[in-house]
Amino acid sequence: MKALPTHLAKKLQTRADEGALRHLPNALPLTDFASNDYLGLSNNIALHKAAQYILTRNQNTAGGATGSRLITGNHNLYTEAETAIATFHNAESALIFNSGYDANVGFFSCVPQKNDIVLYDEFIHASIRDGLKLGNATAYKFKHNNLGALEKSILQHREKAQELYIVTESVFSMDGDSPNLKELAGIAAKYGCRIIIDEAHAVGIFGTNGEGLIQQLNLEDAIFARIVTFGKAMGCHGAAVLGVTGLKQYLVNFARSLIYTTGLPPHALATISAAYSLMPQQAKARQALYNNINSFKLEAQRLNINGLIDSNSAIQCVVIPGNDKVKQVAAQLQQQGYSIKPILSPTVPQGHERLRFCLHSYNTTHEIWGILSCLKAIL
Ligand SMILES: Cc1ncc(COP(=O)(O)O)c(C=O)c1O
Repeated sequence: MKALPTHLAKKLQTRADEGALRHLPNALPLTDFASNDYLGLSNNIALHKAAQYILTRNQNTAGGATGSRLITGNHNLYTEAETAIATFHNAESALIFNSGYDANVGFFSCVPQKNDIVLYDEFIHASIRDGLKLGNATAYKFKHNNLGALEKSILQHREKAQELYIVTESVFSMDGDSPNLKELAGIAAKYGCRIIIDEAHAVGIFGTNGEGLIQQLNLEDAIFARIVTFGKAMGCHGAAVLGVTGLKQYLVNFARSLIYTTGLPPHALATISAAYSLMPQQAKARQALYNNINSFKLEAQRLNINGLIDSNSAIQCVVIPGNDKVKQVAAQLQQQGYSIKPILSPTVPQGHERLRFCLHSYNTTHEIWGILSCLKAIL
């Protein structure tokens, strides 16, 4: 086989020199503080049984997708899942994509147009940035969760914009914090902007039945589009864009990450429908997760752990500056039996490297106290 081109090998070497070389890790039987399986649904037998039932009921074998949704891949399980998702989220329509990455790339590369302006939180997910890069709109970032800075930016750009879009996350993936969504809705209404919210880390967790933060706050009507993903608290895979029927029709026609890819296989769609059907039954798991979030915060405070980012979500972070330092602390915790990941720059800004604790319904108080006391001893 041919060797990697020299300039690419050099880039890898630079990554290594910066202590930021990425590896695909082996799965180890450690106590889980790293996965996004917040409610433990991915291993829930009820989910797999419910999915199997849906497949059988539809006389569908767990075969392949057979083609793009626009050619042969749009089998009836798509309609069933999208109807259930739209109803659950109190949205006019839902359009399933193969992943949250695909949904964001598809949406942001085709919805904002040449004369539109997109204002996005500086910590927005990479998939949104990639979508914006592929599109023709001009995009400006604003300071993280700083609505004053956002309003200034709106005032600066609104006259030039055919449409002004504001993009943020309801729970930030690398910080766990949230913008003031009610205030954001007020600002958008004042200036006639359209809001797009990525709810990847809120769905399944917040709201009476896990509908997300937007529904918990009754803000559905204030939002132009929501992106919900299924690979996290929903315990399966895929994503959907929620919005009006016209938006769905537009995406079916212009979102290239939907058009030019093979659809999801039937078993993936049956699992999505099954996960939604099980959401109302997850009240106990959600309560266990809230209790764990509370225990984690109280114990971190009691131990006086510095660098904790203020968050009420399942994602709790402790900033430990420097790639080498944070990797070393994570390695020590891993040796003690905990699955915990260091988040390095450039994923987060230099100097803001961190340990990211993902909390779950199935973590025990003993595990939470254990990892925090080990961390305290290391620091
Ligand atoms: C905020 C956010 N949006 C989108 C995605 C992408 O979702 P998926 O993993 O389904 O591709 C992620 C996951 O990493 C995320 O954290």
